[in-house]
Amino acid sequence: MAGVTRPAFELVVEGVSHAYGATTALENISFRVAAGEIVAVIGPSGCGKSTLLGIIGGLIAPTAGSVGVRGPLPEDSLNPFTFVFQDFALLPWRDTRANVMLPLEHHKLDAEEKQARVDDALARTGLTEFAGALPKQLSGGMKQRVGIARALVVKPAVLLMDEPLSALDGQTRELLMDDFEAIWARENTTGVYVTHNLDEALRMADRVLALCRRPGRVREIVAIDIPRGERIKPAALVELAALREKLWGHIREEARMADREVV
Ligand SMILES: Nc1ncnc2c1ncn2[C@@H]1O[C@H](COP(=O)(O)OP(=O)(O)OP(=O)(O)O)[C@@H](O)[C@H]1O
Ligand SMILES: [Mg+2]
Repeated sequence: MAGVTRPAFELVVEGVSHAYGATTALENISFRVAAGEIVAVIGPSGCGKSTLLGIIGGLIAPTAGSVGVRGPLPEDSLNPFTFVFQDFALLPWRDTRANVMLPLEHHKLDAEEKQARVDDALARTGLTEFAGALPKQLSGGMKQRVGIARALVVKPAVLLMDEPLSALDGQTRELLMDDFEAIWARENTTGVYVTHNLDEALRMADRVLALCRRPGRVREIVAIDIPRGERIKPAALVELAALREKLWGHIREEARMADREVV
């Protein structure tokens, strides 16, 4: 696959712990994400997935440990980390173009360069003809494409995705997984992909990090050695089923406990 050559940086998460008051959400989490790699983080509800993503993106200061990037970041990257959210987080009064422009507004680029970057992000996500549409005129899938375009417009070093498909129906999810796959292959995207959906993780990630809960710790990191483009082919089914069983074995009991908890 002819991806864009990106510098060989590495995201390093080292010994990260986090407590909300008396609740220890995360304990001693360490892992690395290489440039061009997608790592999925799975685990039952409340195991600290969103907290971990927030810490990586700098929204939450960890109680202990550190997050850093080793090596040179891509030169055209305006923000090292950018989020894609489950609920899209679009401004309802802004059209697609203006929503995608949002992260560029506080950057010192000239207007032409900003327009060019927005045009490019719209083209890369197949949104050019929807540039003037308001969020309320778009389907859920299209709204999330806008969320993705808005993330890509800054050419982030690492894309941080928190359940990006969880608000969408099954078919739309499949279509967007195809879109992600194409974009990631073309741009050699580096990302952390949080999901509670095992099948999504198995389809999208190079490696899957399974967290356990109370406190959230790394249970296991499993590599998926089948190329992303091959995974929906029948030949991959048996191998993927075995990986699924292995990962599900790790989270089954915890998911059951989370399910039975009274909040
Ligand atoms: N702002 C907060 N204040 C106090 N406790 C919090 C806060 N945010 C999260 N928590 C608690 O920390 C733990 C981890 O929460 P987090 O949202 O990171 O989990 P999650 O894995 O993303 O869950 P979900 O699958 O439901 O999205 C949970 O027990 C949660 O109740
Ligand atoms: Mg969450």
